[in-house]
Amino acid sequence: MSQIKVAYITGGTKGVGFGIAEVLLENGFKIAFSGRKAEDVEKASKQLDASGENVLGIVSDVKSFDDEQEAISKVVEKFGRLDLVIANAGLGHFAPIEDLSIEDWQDMIDTNLTGVFYTLKSSIEALKKTEGYFISIASLAGEYFFEKGSGYNASKFGVVGFTQAAMLDLRKYNIKCSVILPGSINTYFNNSEPSEEESWKIQPRDVGDLVLNMMKMDPRVLPAKIELRASQIKK
Ligand SMILES: NC(=O)c1ccc[n+]([C@@H]2O[C@H](COP(=O)([O-])OP(=O)(O)OC[C@H]3O[C@@H](n4cnc5c(N)ncnc54)[C@H](OP(=O)(O)O)[C@@H]3O)[C@@H](O)[C@H]2O)c1
Repeated sequence: MSQIKVAYITGGTKGVGFGIAEVLLENGFKIAFSGRKAEDVEKASKQLDASGENVLGIVSDVKSFDDEQEAISKVVEKFGRLDLVIANAGLGHFAPIEDLSIEDWQDMIDTNLTGVFYTLKSSIEALKKTEGYFISIASLAGEYFFEKGSGYNASKFGVVGFTQAAMLDLRKYNIKCSVILPGSINTYFNNSEPSEEESWKIQPRDVGDLVLNMMKMDPRVLPAKIELRASQIKK
């Protein structure tokens, strides 16, 4: 990759988004990332790049189309281009269907599915200019359903279908679209805490390594849908 590349990652204050940001930064990218809370965005920005030269933290809620449009404008204003968009922000509420609240259902659909649509919709014009790349972070839950997962499964099945259909729409502009379906990752997801005991799981930086390798692939080919699993089960 000869030219400096610019990436925007939604939900980069911690977990997968932060891990992707670290790996891309170490490999010469300039990074913009979002989160909902100003103090978390500021903290993550300082951790990633205290100088602020190569990192832009943006307070944006993917549930808001206005926020996402503004976020993309800020990225292009600071770095002059946008090559890679990673729709990563997401959350999960897990309960049997009879106990799943309307609010929790809506929260998942608005964040995990509509949020991905808002992020891509806001970035298409910038990606056309660079013949860039859009990657969504779905989940194995986007392909395999499980008890207490009805809302989460619905949102992630949606993202898998959405990203692949968008890929067919956007490839005529030489924009690539891929969806990554990871298994369990060692993050803060669903009130968990990263821990040494979970070192057998996928780590956030592993997702970053995958993204980096996808960016290095010949423009001729497109890994459109990728399952990322831990290679071992818990010992
Ligand atoms: N962990 C797993 O086992 C696993 C497995 C497969 C797929 N995934 C997927 O991976 C993605 C990242 O999850 P994670 O494990 O890294 O979780 P995490 O550690 O809880 O991090 C989630 C990130 O998303 C941000 N976020 C949440 N809602 C947002 C919104 N409305 N607007 C903007 N940012 C928002 C959070 O920031 P703020 O709270 O500061 O806003 C945080 O930076 C999700 O899409 C998740 O479904 C996770």
